[in-house]
Amino acid sequence: MKVVILDDAHAVADYGADLFREQLRKSPASVFGLATGSTPLLLYKELIKSNRKGELSFAEVTSFNLDEYMGLAPDHPQSYRHFMNREFFEHVDIDPANTHVPPGDADNPLTACGEYEDKIRAAGGIDIQLLGIGRNGHIGFNEPTSCLVSRTRVKTLTVETIEDNARFFSEDEFQPQLSITMGIGTIMEARLVVLLATGESKAAAIKAMVEGPVSAWCPASALQMHPSTVVIVDEAAASKLTNPDFFKHIEAQNQALLARL
Ligand code: F6R
Repeated sequence: MKVVILDDAHAVADYGADLFREQLRKSPASVFGLATGSTPLLLYKELIKSNRKGELSFAEVTSFNLDEYMGLAPDHPQSYRHFMNREFFEHVDIDPANTHVPPGDADNPLTACGEYEDKIRAAGGIDIQLLGIGRNGHIGFNEPTSCLVSRTRVKTLTVETIEDNARFFSEDEFQPQLSITMGIGTIMEARLVVLLATGESKAAAIKAMVEGPVSAWCPASALQMHPSTVVIVDEAAASKLTNPDFFKHIEAQNQALLARL
Protein backbone atom coordinates (compact mmCIF):
# COMPACT_ATOMS: atom_id res chain seq x y z
CA MET A 1 0.00 0.00 0.00
CA LYS A 2 1.51 3.28 -1.11
CA VAL A 3 0.47 6.25 1.05
CA VAL A 4 0.80 9.75 -0.40
CA ILE A 5 0.24 12.66 1.97
CA LEU A 6 -0.47 16.04 0.36
CA ASP A 7 -1.34 19.53 1.55
CA ASP A 8 -5.03 19.72 0.73
CA ALA A 9 -8.02 18.29 -1.10
CA HIS A 10 -7.03 19.97 -4.40
CA ALA A 11 -3.60 18.33 -4.38
CA VAL A 12 -5.25 14.99 -3.55
CA ALA A 13 -7.62 15.34 -6.52
CA ASP A 14 -4.77 16.35 -8.89
CA TYR A 15 -2.62 13.40 -7.88
CA GLY A 16 -5.56 10.99 -8.25
CA ALA A 17 -6.58 12.50 -11.62
CA ASP A 18 -3.02 12.01 -12.88
CA LEU A 19 -3.28 8.28 -12.21
CA PHE A 20 -6.45 8.15 -14.31
CA ARG A 21 -4.80 10.21 -17.08
CA GLU A 22 -1.83 7.85 -17.07
CA GLN A 23 -4.13 4.82 -17.28
CA LEU A 24 -5.95 6.36 -20.26
CA ARG A 25 -2.68 7.13 -22.02
CA LYS A 26 -1.62 3.49 -21.60
CA SER A 27 -5.01 2.16 -22.64
CA PRO A 28 -7.76 4.38 -24.09
CA ALA A 29 -10.23 1.48 -23.76
CA SER A 30 -9.71 1.18 -20.01
CA VAL A 31 -12.27 -0.17 -17.56
CA PHE A 32 -12.85 2.27 -14.71
CA GLY A 33 -14.33 1.47 -11.30
CA LEU A 34 -15.97 4.66 -10.03
CA ALA A 35 -17.24 6.01 -6.72
CA THR A 36 -19.79 8.57 -5.60
CA GLY A 37 -19.74 10.73 -2.45
CA SER A 38 -18.18 14.11 -1.78
CA THR A 39 -14.54 13.04 -1.94
CA PRO A 40 -14.16 12.26 -5.68
CA LEU A 41 -15.93 15.41 -6.88
CA LEU A 42 -12.75 17.46 -7.34
CA LEU A 43 -11.09 14.59 -9.19
CA TYR A 44 -14.07 14.35 -11.56
CA LYS A 45 -13.79 18.12 -12.14
CA GLU A 46 -10.12 17.68 -13.07
CA LEU A 47 -10.93 14.91 -15.55
CA ILE A 48 -13.78 16.96 -17.04
CA LYS A 49 -11.35 19.88 -17.55
CA SER A 50 -8.82 17.64 -19.33
CA ASN A 51 -11.57 16.20 -21.53
CA ARG A 52 -12.84 19.66 -22.50
CA LYS A 53 -9.32 20.79 -23.38
CA GLY A 54 -9.04 17.72 -25.63
CA GLU A 55 -6.15 16.31 -23.58
CA LEU A 56 -7.90 13.00 -23.04
CA SER A 57 -10.96 11.10 -24.21
CA PHE A 58 -13.31 8.71 -22.46
CA ALA A 59 -14.89 7.61 -25.76
CA GLU A 60 -13.61 4.05 -25.41
CA VAL A 61 -13.90 3.78 -21.62
CA THR A 62 -16.24 1.37 -19.85
CA SER A 63 -17.16 2.16 -16.25
CA PHE A 64 -18.63 0.29 -13.30
CA ASN A 65 -19.76 2.11 -10.20
CA LEU A 66 -19.25 0.63 -6.78
CA ASP A 67 -22.73 0.84 -5.39
CA GLU A 68 -26.31 2.04 -5.49
CA TYR A 69 -29.13 2.51 -2.99
CA MET A 70 -31.75 -0.21 -3.16
CA GLY A 71 -35.20 1.10 -3.90
CA LEU A 72 -34.11 4.17 -5.87
CA ALA A 73 -34.76 4.30 -9.61
CA PRO A 74 -31.94 5.66 -11.83
CA ASP A 75 -33.77 8.98 -12.31
CA HIS A 76 -34.21 9.56 -8.56
CA PRO A 77 -32.16 12.67 -7.66
CA GLN A 78 -30.48 10.86 -4.74
CA SER A 79 -29.62 7.74 -6.72
CA TYR A 80 -25.95 7.16 -7.45
CA ARG A 81 -26.79 6.78 -11.15
CA HIS A 82 -28.23 10.28 -11.11
CA PHE A 83 -25.17 11.54 -9.20
CA MET A 84 -22.78 10.07 -11.76
CA ASN A 85 -24.70 11.48 -14.72
CA ARG A 86 -24.87 14.91 -13.08
CA GLU A 87 -21.31 15.12 -11.76
CA PHE A 88 -19.34 13.33 -14.45
CA PHE A 89 -20.86 11.39 -17.34
CA GLU A 90 -22.87 14.30 -18.80
CA HIS A 91 -19.73 16.45 -18.99
CA VAL A 92 -17.39 14.08 -20.81
CA ASP A 93 -17.38 12.10 -24.05
CA ILE A 94 -18.03 8.72 -22.42
CA ASP A 95 -20.68 6.60 -24.17
CA PRO A 96 -23.58 6.37 -21.66
CA ALA A 97 -24.20 2.79 -22.85
CA ASN A 98 -20.78 1.86 -21.49
CA THR A 99 -21.46 3.23 -17.99
CA HIS A 100 -22.77 0.81 -15.38
CA VAL A 101 -24.22 1.40 -11.93
CA PRO A 102 -25.78 -1.46 -9.92
CA PRO A 103 -29.55 -1.43 -10.56
CA GLY A 104 -31.17 -0.19 -7.33
CA ASP A 105 -34.63 -0.81 -8.78
CA ALA A 106 -34.02 -4.37 -10.01
CA ASP A 107 -37.03 -6.70 -9.73
CA ASN A 108 -34.71 -9.37 -8.44
CA PRO A 109 -31.71 -7.74 -6.74
CA LEU A 110 -30.07 -11.10 -6.03
CA THR A 111 -29.93 -12.04 -9.71
CA ALA A 112 -28.89 -8.48 -10.56
CA CYS A 113 -25.80 -8.79 -8.31
CA GLY A 114 -24.57 -11.88 -10.18
CA GLU A 115 -25.24 -10.19 -13.50
CA TYR A 116 -23.20 -7.15 -12.44
CA GLU A 117 -20.24 -9.41 -11.65
CA ASP A 118 -20.68 -11.11 -15.04
CA LYS A 119 -20.57 -7.74 -16.82
CA ILE A 120 -17.35 -6.72 -15.04
CA ARG A 121 -15.79 -10.04 -15.99
CA ALA A 122 -16.98 -9.76 -19.61
CA ALA A 123 -15.39 -6.28 -19.83
CA GLY A 124 -12.05 -7.84 -18.85
CA GLY A 125 -12.02 -6.72 -15.19
CA ILE A 126 -11.40 -3.30 -13.69
CA ASP A 127 -8.14 -1.55 -14.61
CA ILE A 128 -8.34 1.30 -12.12
CA GLN A 129 -10.74 1.51 -9.19
CA LEU A 130 -11.51 4.80 -7.45
CA LEU A 131 -12.52 4.61 -3.78
CA GLY A 132 -13.50 6.91 -0.95
CA ILE A 133 -13.66 5.62 2.61
CA GLY A 134 -16.40 5.85 5.22
CA ARG A 135 -15.68 7.12 8.74
CA ASN A 136 -16.20 3.50 9.83
CA GLY A 137 -13.71 2.17 7.27
CA HIS A 138 -16.26 1.05 4.68
CA ILE A 139 -15.34 0.89 1.00
CA GLY A 140 -18.25 0.82 -1.42
CA PHE A 141 -21.05 -0.07 0.96
CA ASN A 142 -19.01 -2.88 2.52
CA GLU A 143 -19.73 -1.97 6.10
CA PRO A 144 -17.78 -3.26 9.13
CA THR A 145 -18.18 -7.06 9.53
CA SER A 146 -18.31 -7.48 5.72
CA CYS A 147 -16.74 -10.65 4.41
CA LEU A 148 -13.29 -9.74 3.10
CA VAL A 149 -13.73 -11.90 -0.03
CA SER A 150 -17.34 -10.85 -0.70
CA ARG A 151 -18.77 -10.30 -4.19
CA THR A 152 -21.43 -7.87 -5.41
CA ARG A 153 -24.44 -8.29 -3.11
CA VAL A 154 -27.20 -6.61 -1.11
CA LYS A 155 -25.88 -4.98 2.07
CA THR A 156 -27.65 -3.38 5.01
CA LEU A 157 -26.25 0.07 5.78
CA THR A 158 -25.11 0.88 9.31
CA VAL A 159 -26.87 3.56 11.34
CA GLU A 160 -23.64 5.61 11.11
CA THR A 161 -23.65 5.53 7.30
CA ILE A 162 -27.37 6.31 7.12
CA GLU A 163 -26.77 9.32 9.39
CA ASP A 164 -23.72 10.45 7.39
CA ASN A 165 -25.74 10.34 4.15
CA ALA A 166 -28.94 11.84 5.62
CA ARG A 167 -27.58 15.25 4.55
CA PHE A 168 -28.52 14.42 0.96
CA PHE A 169 -32.17 13.56 1.73
CA SER A 170 -34.90 15.96 2.85
CA GLU A 171 -36.60 15.14 6.17
CA ASP A 172 -39.75 13.62 4.71
CA GLU A 173 -37.94 11.78 1.88
CA PHE A 174 -37.51 7.97 1.79
CA GLN A 175 -33.87 7.17 2.65
CA PRO A 176 -32.90 3.61 1.75
CA GLN A 177 -31.32 1.37 4.39
CA LEU A 178 -30.17 -1.25 1.89
CA SER A 179 -27.72 -1.06 -0.98
CA ILE A 180 -26.23 -3.13 -3.76
CA THR A 181 -22.45 -2.94 -3.57
CA MET A 182 -19.46 -4.51 -5.25
CA GLY A 183 -17.89 -6.84 -2.71
CA ILE A 184 -14.45 -6.51 -1.18
CA GLY A 185 -13.35 -9.48 -3.31
CA THR A 186 -14.63 -7.66 -6.40
CA ILE A 187 -12.67 -4.51 -5.48
CA MET A 188 -9.55 -6.54 -4.69
CA GLU A 189 -9.48 -7.82 -8.28
CA ALA A 190 -9.03 -4.31 -9.71
CA ARG A 191 -5.53 -4.00 -11.16
CA LEU A 192 -4.92 -0.61 -9.52
CA VAL A 193 -6.85 0.84 -6.57
CA VAL A 194 -6.83 4.59 -5.90
CA LEU A 195 -8.33 5.55 -2.54
CA LEU A 196 -8.84 9.22 -1.69
CA ALA A 197 -9.58 10.67 1.76
CA THR A 198 -9.67 14.23 2.98
CA GLY A 199 -10.50 15.88 6.27
CA GLU A 200 -10.11 15.13 9.96
CA SER A 201 -13.29 13.00 10.04
CA LYS A 202 -11.48 10.32 8.01
CA ALA A 203 -8.30 10.24 10.12
CA ALA A 204 -9.30 7.31 12.35
CA ALA A 205 -10.43 5.20 9.37
CA ILE A 206 -7.18 5.94 7.52
CA LYS A 207 -5.12 4.88 10.53
CA ALA A 208 -7.11 1.65 10.89
CA MET A 209 -6.82 0.92 7.17
CA VAL A 210 -3.08 1.60 6.87
CA GLU A 211 -1.82 0.32 10.20
CA GLY A 212 -4.20 -2.60 10.62
CA PRO A 213 -4.85 -5.22 11.76
CA VAL A 214 -6.51 -6.56 8.62
CA SER A 215 -9.99 -7.00 9.95
CA ALA A 216 -13.62 -7.08 8.91
CA TRP A 217 -14.11 -4.28 11.46
CA CYS A 218 -12.27 -2.01 9.02
CA PRO A 219 -13.19 -3.35 5.56
CA ALA A 220 -10.67 -1.01 3.87
CA SER A 221 -7.85 -2.78 5.75
CA ALA A 222 -8.25 -5.66 3.25
CA LEU A 223 -6.39 -3.38 0.82
CA GLN A 224 -3.18 -4.14 2.73
CA MET A 225 -3.35 -7.43 0.82
CA HIS A 226 -3.81 -5.72 -2.56
CA PRO A 227 -0.64 -5.60 -4.69
CA SER A 228 -1.22 -2.14 -6.15
CA THR A 229 -3.11 0.35 -3.99
CA VAL A 230 -2.37 4.07 -3.78
CA VAL A 231 -3.89 5.89 -0.80
CA ILE A 232 -3.93 9.66 -1.36
CA VAL A 233 -4.76 11.76 1.69
CA ASP A 234 -4.51 15.34 2.88
CA GLU A 235 -2.71 16.30 6.08
CA ALA A 236 -5.93 16.21 8.11
CA ALA A 237 -6.84 12.67 7.04
CA ALA A 238 -3.24 11.59 7.72
CA SER A 239 -3.16 13.23 11.15
CA LYS A 240 -3.64 10.03 13.18
CA LEU A 241 -0.98 7.97 11.37
CA THR A 242 1.83 6.87 13.69
CA ASN A 243 4.61 8.01 11.35
CA PRO A 244 3.39 10.26 8.50
CA ASP A 245 6.94 11.50 7.88
CA PHE A 246 7.99 8.02 6.82
CA PHE A 247 5.37 8.03 4.02
CA LYS A 248 6.45 11.52 2.95
CA HIS A 249 10.06 10.34 2.84
CA ILE A 250 9.12 7.33 0.69
CA GLU A 251 7.16 9.51 -1.73
CA ALA A 252 10.06 12.01 -2.01
CA GLN A 253 12.39 9.11 -2.79
CA ASN A 254 9.95 7.74 -5.39
CA GLN A 255 9.64 11.12 -7.09
CA ALA A 256 13.43 11.57 -7.13
CA LEU A 257 13.81 8.13 -8.70
CA LEU A 258 11.15 8.87 -11.34
CA ALA A 259 12.87 12.17 -12.19
CA ARG A 260 16.07 10.23 -12.94
CA LEU A 261 14.38 7.71 -15.27
C1 F6R B 1 -19.54 5.82 -2.66
C2 F6R B 1 -19.02 4.84 -1.73
C3 F6R B 1 -18.69 5.18 -0.32
C4 F6R B 1 -18.01 6.53 -0.14
C5 F6R B 1 -17.74 6.81 1.34
C6 F6R B 1 -17.13 8.18 1.56
O1 F6R B 1 -19.79 5.24 -3.93
O2 F6R B 1 -18.87 3.76 -2.13
O3 F6R B 1 -17.87 4.16 0.21
O4 F6R B 1 -16.81 6.54 -0.86
O5 F6R B 1 -18.92 6.72 2.07
O6 F6R B 1 -18.07 9.15 1.19
P1 F6R B 1 -17.66 10.70 1.12
O7 F6R B 1 -16.68 10.82 0.00
O8 F6R B 1 -18.95 11.41 0.83
O9 F6R B 1 -17.08 11.03 2.44
